[in-house]
Amino acid sequence: MQSADHLAASRYARMRWNTPLAPEHAALLLQRLDVRPGARVLDLGCGWGELLLRAVAAGGVSGPVATRGVGVDTDGDALERGRRLAADRSLNRHVTFVMGEAAAWHEPADRVLSIGSAHAFGGTRAALDALAAVVRPGGRLLFGDAYWERPPTPEVEQIFGSDVVTLPGLVEAARERGWRVLHLSTADQREWDDFESTWVAGRQEWLLSYPEDPRAAGVRAELDDRLRQYVGGYRGVLGLAYLVLGR
Ligand SMILES: C[S@@+](CC[C@H](N)C(=O)[O-])C[C@H]1O[C@@H](n2cnc3c(N)ncnc32)[C@H](O)[C@@H]1O
Repeated sequence: MQSADHLAASRYARMRWNTPLAPEHAALLLQRLDVRPGARVLDLGCGWGELLLRAVAAGGVSGPVATRGVGVDTDGDALERGRRLAADRSLNRHVTFVMGEAAAWHEPADRVLSIGSAHAFGGTRAALDALAAVVRPGGRLLFGDAYWERPPTPEVEQIFGSDVVTLPGLVEAARERGWRVLHLSTADQREWDDFESTWVAGRQEWLLSYPEDPRAAGVRAELDDRLRQYVGGYRGVLGLAYLVLGR
């Protein structure tokens, strides 16, 4: 394999999922999502679908009515990783990964996940509107979205955009759209630090293995910028909230 191929493969290699979330926090969210046997689970902006696979497994696939899942994303490599994960866990007959725009998916499901993908719908409020149309009556939505924990500097606001709201603003936006908040929790500092560390870790390791690669300088600059922006800008300022919403 060329080092360039190693570079592509290393990108998200150290991440369990692409969001600040510890495994025990994920287990709590799945418990609150309450996936029932036979449910249809949909993940819009699924990445490689680790949480989708766990949600389907939590619903159960061996009983008389198997739980089924669909993950939708625009990243072909992530979807391929999701298919491999599903096959490794014998879930490939139960979970389908579809290349497509999250906002173009219209088939409703009993349980819907949208984590870190509100931008695919045009931002927080637009996502809360659009997702209402794909959650079946009596269903639940696990919505993971960014919010300002503290007021951002203009430089930080420029990175994440002016659509980001505060936590009370996020709860209010959900309530105004007819959602009931069944659960709310936020990523803590260690979850954020682990997320940021694992986001860069695959490529940090690549840099250490291939320091002479012609791409190394560009990758080093990108990773250095990201770390600088995090510790010097949005660490403790940008939050990530997980809401389980019902309607
Ligand atoms: C922050 S990641 C979160 C991935 C996943 N939900 C997770 O928690 O691991 C956001 C995901 O949204 C996907 N995405 C971005 N724009 C999209 C679009 N228009 N339609 C579908 N997916 C999109 C990205 O490819 C990426 O996988």
